[in-house]
Amino acid sequence: MKRNNFLILSLAITLAAYHPLPAQESTFDRKADSVLRLMTLEEKAGQMNQYNDDWNATGPMTAKSDMAGQIRDGRVGSILNAAGTARTRTWQEMAMQSRLRIPLLFGQDVIHGYKSTMPIPLAESCSWDMEAIERAARAGAAEASACGIHWTFAPMVDITRDPRWGRVMEGAGEDPLLGARIAYARVKGYQGDTPGAVNSLMACAKHYAAYGAAIGGRDYNSVDMSDRMLWEVYLPPFRATIDAGVGTFMTSFNDINGVPSTGNPYLLRDILKGQWGFEGFVVSDWGSVGEMINHGTVKDGYEAACSAILAGCDMDMESHDFVDYLPRLVNEGRVPVALIDDAVRRILKKKFELGLFDDPFKFCDPEREQREIYNPEHEAAALDMARKSIVLLKNENQLLPLSKELKTIAFIGPLVKAVKENKGFWDNEIAGVDSNFIVTQWEGLENKVGKTARLLYARGCDIEGQRRDGFAEAVEVAAQADVVILSIGEHRAMSGEAKSTSDISIPGVQEELLAALLETGKPVVVLINAGRPLVFNYTADHAPAILYTWWLGCQAGNAIADVLFGDYNPSAKLTMTFPLSVGQIPIYYSHFNTGRPAPDDRNRFYNSSYIDLSIYPRFEFGYGLSYTTFEYSNLQLDKKQLKTDETITVSFTVRNSGPYDGEEIVQLYLRDLVGSITRPVKELRDFRKISLKAGESMVVQFIIDKEKLSFYNNQLQWVAEPGEFGVMIGASSRDIRLKDTFVLLD
Ligand code: BGC
Repeated sequence: MKRNNFLILSLAITLAAYHPLPAQESTFDRKADSVLRLMTLEEKAGQMNQYNDDWNATGPMTAKSDMAGQIRDGRVGSILNAAGTARTRTWQEMAMQSRLRIPLLFGQDVIHGYKSTMPIPLAESCSWDMEAIERAARAGAAEASACGIHWTFAPMVDITRDPRWGRVMEGAGEDPLLGARIAYARVKGYQGDTPGAVNSLMACAKHYAAYGAAIGGRDYNSVDMSDRMLWEVYLPPFRATIDAGVGTFMTSFNDINGVPSTGNPYLLRDILKGQWGFEGFVVSDWGSVGEMINHGTVKDGYEAACSAILAGCDMDMESHDFVDYLPRLVNEGRVPVALIDDAVRRILKKKFELGLFDDPFKFCDPEREQREIYNPEHEAAALDMARKSIVLLKNENQLLPLSKELKTIAFIGPLVKAVKENKGFWDNEIAGVDSNFIVTQWEGLENKVGKTARLLYARGCDIEGQRRDGFAEAVEVAAQADVVILSIGEHRAMSGEAKSTSDISIPGVQEELLAALLETGKPVVVLINAGRPLVFNYTADHAPAILYTWWLGCQAGNAIADVLFGDYNPSAKLTMTFPLSVGQIPIYYSHFNTGRPAPDDRNRFYNSSYIDLSIYPRFEFGYGLSYTTFEYSNLQLDKKQLKTDETITVSFTVRNSGPYDGEEIVQLYLRDLVGSITRPVKELRDFRKISLKAGESMVVQFIIDKEKLSFYNNQLQWVAEPGEFGVMIGASSRDIRLKDTFVLLD
């Protein structure tokens, strides 16, 4: 109790400190206050309450009586998973029958496209192409907003370093700098330039915070990490979303260092609303207010609501605890009404910003809905994004690209003719994606060479299970072909929420099918479809060519065919390390050196290593091939010493030394050689995606300033310490082509 009183007092002081003075208030503040003044305590708690629609649950459904009546009584502020203009209009009409006619806010997970499905976010991240990523998010926003939706629960900006965790598919991989840039691009894409534009969605940075660091890669599990790691690795993408103007944040399910995120004043009040000055609102994750009872930090719903509001959570998704208990908590003196007012003001301001008070049905135009869904521009964005997401992992003897003159092609495997698999996990079943708008891998091949080549098909085996009775037919088909393409991988529902797995190898007998096909002596190109980095050592050792195709969305087939036949030269690079074995996890490139580092052949006693396994990954962060080759040369630093207010310009030449035009993602890594605390062996500090015609050269420049040399020291101060730094220019985090050193002066 004492602890709570202290918290309330310090919260009141904090609120007074950061709530804008009347003179500085925005129009939206004033408008929100004019509504707030009219509201009863029960109506305020209602604004802070979000329910799922009657169906389409994306979490454990809870019983609620008479949702329509509750809306009319002003006890609901937002609904999730109501899809379509007709459905959202129905609910909104009910809100218009409430005493104050405050419009409802409709939220949904528009994670990788809406009806026109985009590649899964992890795949998109491998493009390192901010414009394409922003366009893909915009296309999703244009479609979803035309279907009555105001708000997407995206982007997920959790750093992910454990491929056992099913939700790696939803993020941008392991690196904070790349993650932050992608987070920024996605928010811009969803929200556009003008808040409330009818073709935009309000974005939501989630899951705050450190959800991706769940112990053992088990979804919803606890997180225990140092503050330094939190600030340096896990928070930067969240911070970037604020710079991009994100409207909302979502808390995470996990507890962190013993405190559930939804009841975590350090994360929500201190960092987010305090230090970062975030003015939007915070929604809990599904049921995470009530789940604090399971975490064991509160004993019932009343205490859960108290903990969440004091910590800084403004809206309760599906726990019902805010609507049930907040008025009582205020009346009993446990929660100052100022905190409720602050939360409601934040929510109302967003409703004003979106223009919903002017026209609650602004996003409910059925004609626009018809026009926008499957709009060819969105299909074009999906194709562009899909081609840029495919990673070429291996290409022995330049087997790829395939010639369009080939006479007979065998396309084999359980995913060749799959339809909905291509959509990936967050595929908006709720939106009801029409299968006719998904180009299967088979259709993509037919579109490309169906008129000139004989195309043969065999399924070979299932994704899972031990049945080998399709092998004979597959081998027979392969024997007739000039080249075999084998499409294997996961089910789309093997990755995603609540899809953590302890075994990340290719399921079933799919690699055995590959072995049987290789026995024919035919060249085999393997496509691996997955939502996470998988382990596939047999394939990596034996298949001559491998494309990692993830889940590519509605244009999967066309994108894959474009890459197979060289109409698009692959340019993607991995944003997560691919382990050799699950035993290496967690594995990431920016590790510390340790006191006993492990260069290849050192005495075992001197190695931080395994006795039974290499410490090196199968494919490293930043890795990805092209059909052409790039030579790096002539690294120059314009000075070898800099003062803290100076910059160093690093320049070097990249030449396309192969036979095809292509794109290269050049990567700048730095290492602080001696720090007051240990520093990673390398950190990505900048990158550029460049396009070079065959034979063409380009001088690339990076500017190194104090910011790029800084890190959080043990006192959590952001500092650049004088001393020597290594600069490395890489085609991947391991394939360092050029290096030098420089000194930061006192
Ligand atoms: C997920 C969130 C999602 C929410 C609503 C939760 O289970 O963790 O990412 O936005 O459901 O669908």
